[in-house]
Amino acid sequence: MTLIDVHLTPDYAARALREDVRAGLAATPKWLPPKWFYDARGSELFEEITRLPEYYPTRAEREILHARAGEIAALTNAHTLVELGSGSSEKTRLLLDGLRAHGTLTSFVPLDVSESALRDASDAINADYPNLDVHGVVGDFTAHLDKLPGDPPRVVAFLGGTIGNLIPAEREAFFRSVREVLEPGEWLLLGTDLVKDPATLVAAYDDSADVTAEFNKNVLRVINRQLGADFDVDAFEHVALWDADNEWIEMHLRATRAMRVLIPEIHLEITFAEGEEISTEISAKFHRSGVEAELDKAGFTPAAWWTDAEARFALSLWQSI
Ligand code: SAH
Ligand code: AVI
Repeated sequence: MTLIDVHLTPDYAARALREDVRAGLAATPKWLPPKWFYDARGSELFEEITRLPEYYPTRAEREILHARAGEIAALTNAHTLVELGSGSSEKTRLLLDGLRAHGTLTSFVPLDVSESALRDASDAINADYPNLDVHGVVGDFTAHLDKLPGDPPRVVAFLGGTIGNLIPAEREAFFRSVREVLEPGEWLLLGTDLVKDPATLVAAYDDSADVTAEFNKNVLRVINRQLGADFDVDAFEHVALWDADNEWIEMHLRATRAMRVLIPEIHLEITFAEGEEISTEISAKFHRSGVEAELDKAGFTPAAWWTDAEARFALSLWQSI
């Protein structure tokens, strides 16, 4: 059976978008939070990104999940698998298979801000795993963790390297909030992309088919549709660069000409100088020591650290103290 709880109602989402756009586009420099990429089209574009030759993280994480799902099941004995920022939950099937084979899993709780992605994934998993209780949550993982259903022991999976899309202060608050909702002894399974040579990293975020460029620009389409704005999307170009000091990829949208944009729903008129940029996403890359320090600070103890054969990506398992 599939059940969907909607904590991010259309009203709540519309209000949150208005607040974020007002705060980010009235600021200098301009910025927008990455969660607004993911309307139905944005979620489809992300799925397309995962199949690009340059975008290695999905394949690397799938390789680890394939090799380690059985160990994860044996270590955790999970009754519930919660997945935050679940998207299509495609790779997650490897975990579901491992946990089902182990015989302990009874429910799957995907949570995502994208209602379309969540409903499609929940329906597909429900069809393919007949005896699993699928309980989807439309929600924001920075705000709605207290609403997580499911019997303990639970594994909370946060895959794909999405943790890297939070700025360090958000990451700290996020890890603490996960720790707070877990009972002692429950688990966090975390996917983190690792620091590597900048050429490989930049190519993953600036692919030759320009799918990532479309994904980046999609946030302007979301604002046009939801807030009645008149962004000329084609007047912006996609920028991806490696910030070696912060060890993160930055994505920007750069105005190719001076322009004025009206956003009627929030009574905002903004101007762009030629070359002015909106910062739309960071994607932080990690070292093992940094991940360990952050999780230790939040109250987790390490249980396992696995990488793919080329050590591009890490999957790590943590137990709440
Ligand atoms: N976990 C999947 C999808 C990663 S894409 C994978 O590894 O392939 C990131 C997902 O997180 C998207 O589905 C997006 O809608 C979701 N997301 C982004 N910000 C979110 C937030 N604040 N709360 C909940 N979901 C969020
Ligand atoms: C979802 N997240 C982990 C992706 C990433 O790699 O940071 C989002 C993305 N942005 C551009 N390409 C993919």
